[in-house]
Amino acid sequence: MTAQIRLVEVTDENRDAVLAVRVRPDQQRFVASVEKSFLDAEREPEGKPWYRAVYAGDEPVGFVMLSWNLVPGPGLLGPFYLWRLLIGARHQGRGYGTAILDEVVALIRADGAEELFTSYVPGEGCPEPFYLGYGFLPTGDIEDGEIVLKLDLH
Ligand SMILES: CC(C)(COP(=O)(O)OP(=O)(O)OC[C@H]1O[C@@H](n2cnc3c(N)ncnc32)[C@H](O)[C@@H]1OP(=O)(O)O)[C@@H](O)C(=O)NCCC(=O)NCCS
Repeated sequence: MTAQIRLVEVTDENRDAVLAVRVRPDQQRFVASVEKSFLDAEREPEGKPWYRAVYAGDEPVGFVMLSWNLVPGPGLLGPFYLWRLLIGARHQGRGYGTAILDEVVALIRADGAEELFTSYVPGEGCPEPFYLGYGFLPTGDIEDGEIVLKLDLH
């Protein structure tokens, strides 16, 4: 069964609860925090950041950030790029990550996307099996030491 999640805008009301969503300490080398994501979004408008908190019921369980329809160029993968995806340590392994990808894919498809890029830091415990399991394939490129993957949306 597909896990039930909702993508929710971050506001003054829920910001602190969303900032409290954290991965396990040993996973911090694979993904930046929610706090760092907010800073990146502010500092890198050319990355066309779009982000949402991820809720299961009334509880924030994760965070997702995309580059939404940018003009690809040096250091800018796209037009659509899964920039950040994280599920809180206590909530992993319940299908939430997969449900977020389903939701994001539906949203960007509706906006004309034909492919979704992402990239990951390789290493023990990295999310490679998660992405390959979903259908992403390596493009053969490496950006800033990260392995680039692409999901074909045709
Ligand atoms: C990677 C992540 C987003 C996956 O979310 P999740 O809700 O735990 O994943 P799901 O429950 O939807 O798992 C789907 C499948 O991927 C597998 N999977 C998930 N994370 C995995 C990992 N790190 N290594 C190996 N397999 C993994 C699950 O076992 C499951 O396999 P199955 O379908 O055979 O049962 C989440 O674990 C996470 O936030 N990890 C730490 C941060 C991170 O690495 N983010 C990605 C940055 S690029």
